[in-house]
Amino acid sequence: MSFPTQRPRRLRQSENLRRLMRETYLHTDQLIMPYFVQESLKGKEEISSMPGQFRYSLQALPSELEALIELGIRHVLLFGIPAVKDVRASQAYDPQGIVQQTVEMIKKQFPELTVITDVCLCEYMSHGHCGMVEGEKVLNDETLELLVKTAVSHAKAGADVVAPSDMMDGRVGAIRKALDQNGFKDTALMSYAAKYASAFYGPFREAAHSTPQFGDRQSYQMDPANREEALREVALDIEEGADLVMVKPALAYLDVICDIKKTYHIPLAAYQVSGEYTMIKSAATAGFMDEKRLVMESVLAIRRAGATAILTYFAKDIARWLHEEVRRGSNLSTL
Ligand code: PBG
Repeated sequence: MSFPTQRPRRLRQSENLRRLMRETYLHTDQLIMPYFVQESLKGKEEISSMPGQFRYSLQALPSELEALIELGIRHVLLFGIPAVKDVRASQAYDPQGIVQQTVEMIKKQFPELTVITDVCLCEYMSHGHCGMVEGEKVLNDETLELLVKTAVSHAKAGADVVAPSDMMDGRVGAIRKALDQNGFKDTALMSYAAKYASAFYGPFREAAHSTPQFGDRQSYQMDPANREEALREVALDIEEGADLVMVKPALAYLDVICDIKKTYHIPLAAYQVSGEYTMIKSAATAGFMDEKRLVMESVLAIRRAGATAILTYFAKDIARWLHEEVRRGSNLSTL
């Protein structure tokens, strides 16, 4: 039986019915806010490629975190920008490095926050690649040793979750093993499992001063054309000991999020990256589209595809909009 008996619009007639039928929700608990912390910076500095986002000094971060917590967001992801870079990324695993100091500060002053650290070498390497290089080749196994040291130093500083984002082979297993051997069996590991070689990272590289000085990241990050390969990457990371896996970027890879959600029983996160942020900001600033609706619709779509947690630079805006909805008597939802 079809039309006129079947009329899906019956259930869309009123706000109440639409609420009853709603399948996907957003909640501040699901949001992770990324921060860039820069060594030897005074105060904070706006990131030119990401209007409305800032690099913070260690001293400037606490007042920002107070505002974040006030909005009900409880999870942060940290990126460090060191004062000096070299070919062994030594600041990445220095116990007094900028990320290590920031983690210690947060665990002391804001124990209610989950601290996730991005484990990658590109911000710390003079050449901007995510691993050790020989000529123009990015070496895999030699890089693992440095990633392991970095992850363990983050765990020592008190990180709740370490998040390797380099896409070297075997890094999840190597990091898990080292964490366990060093007494950090409870430190969780979020793997950037399906991370694509994407143009959407453009604004981030300016934000984190991590643009590769030669070549690109296609020999280690995934080909945007590949969908099945993502499942293989996730399978390997689960085997190696990942506690949760991530897809990145988010909006252009909803099929990948959906596939992983359907195939594996592992918590799944997605990263709405810098380019997704800047595209929406630019369109909204130009007056072409509505920022709030664009943000809510895209984040809701990422949830609908199957992501449990979402990393997004819009986390504070989303929280503010959700609180407004609640004040108006609506549920924590959308639009
Ligand atoms: C580090 C890293 C990158 C991002 C997260 N971790 C940049 C890259 O791979 O070039 C991108 C995040 C964003 O664009 O918001 N390797």
